[in-house]
Amino acid sequence: MPSLFKVFSLLALAALSGALAAPHPALVVHGSRPDCKMTTGFEMCFRNTTRRSVHETPSRKRVPASLTNGERLARHLPLKPPTRRSSARRVVASPAAAPANRGYIQVLSVDENGNSTGVLGYVSKSTYAHTQYLIQPSVDDALLVAPSGDRNLITLNSDTPSPAFLGFVQAREDSSSGLAEGSSNYLYLASTEQTSPNATPQNVGNSFNAVSGGPFRAESAVWTHDPINHTLTAQWINPDTSRAPTVAFIQGSAIYFSGDPEAFQQMHSAPVQKIAFVYVPA
Ligand SMILES: *[C@@H]1O[C@H](CO)[C@@H](O)[C@H](O)[C@H]1NC(C)=O
Ligand SMILES: *[C@@H]1O[C@H](CO)[C@@H](O)[C@H](O)[C@H]1NC(C)=O
Ligand SMILES: *[C@@H]1O[C@H](CO)[C@@H](O)[C@H](O)[C@H]1NC(C)=O
Repeated sequence: MPSLFKVFSLLALAALSGALAAPHPALVVHGSRPDCKMTTGFEMCFRNTTRRSVHETPSRKRVPASLTNGERLARHLPLKPPTRRSSARRVVASPAAAPANRGYIQVLSVDENGNSTGVLGYVSKSTYAHTQYLIQPSVDDALLVAPSGDRNLITLNSDTPSPAFLGFVQAREDSSSGLAEGSSNYLYLASTEQTSPNATPQNVGNSFNAVSGGPFRAESAVWTHDPINHTLTAQWINPDTSRAPTVAFIQGSAIYFSGDPEAFQQMHSAPVQKIAFVYVPA
């Protein structure tokens, strides 16, 4: 199995790019950065509270005295008890037989042209504080997913099994649930309830809201699996129903999506690496 798996990965990689650098053995570590820390085995980077506008004008914003749970999370403070919203119903995955088509999500680093430069790891089955999915190096710790209807992936071995769909959730700092070039808005990779293909961001239950009590919107029908080259591409639908630029990247161990990773980085300072996904049948 491991050698077959390796062959498959190489085939998928070969499909992605004609000339490849040697795969990375493990994650890129930015351990020296003061805003990135190892927490529960994962490297997480948190917002540099010295904000800069996209026009490079330095501006200092003070931390508000009363923190929301989302902000407490970012500062490693204990959370207030979650407030369960009646609209945030939790969906329990049905105990059906294991789907025939299931796989892992391999994460590749890509350059500015979108060409692969190596394998970074896999989407993890363990989430950060039951809120968002991360990247980790081993297939043994990889999230197992199954395609489920149009553009959806259902999670099979997540430590946050409910809601069961692997989707995107609007980030706590976002000015709206829309992504665009020039905007630092971004999305978490998280567990969400199912939304319809082409639906705008929906007020459905999701793992980030369940922990933070947030009102953040989500979409599950974001994935397109190409059956030939096995790439998994992501597409967020903006509130105006347009197809948003949806660029995947990592910062530390966190997986995010933005219309403009450079604008995100100006706001959040720690290095980012653009990524692509490959579905690897299990
Ligand atoms: C995979 O195939 C689809 C269409 O079949 C294509 O649009 C996409 O660019 C391909 N991806 C890569 C990385 O070759
Ligand atoms: C935070 O951002 C400011 C302004 O860009 C910068 O001067 C400072 O060095 C950053 N701090 C860290 C810890 O990266
Ligand atoms: C990288 O992408 C560019 C633009 O799409 C393409 O012209 C080039 O051939 C690619 N390079 C490799 C090594 O695949």
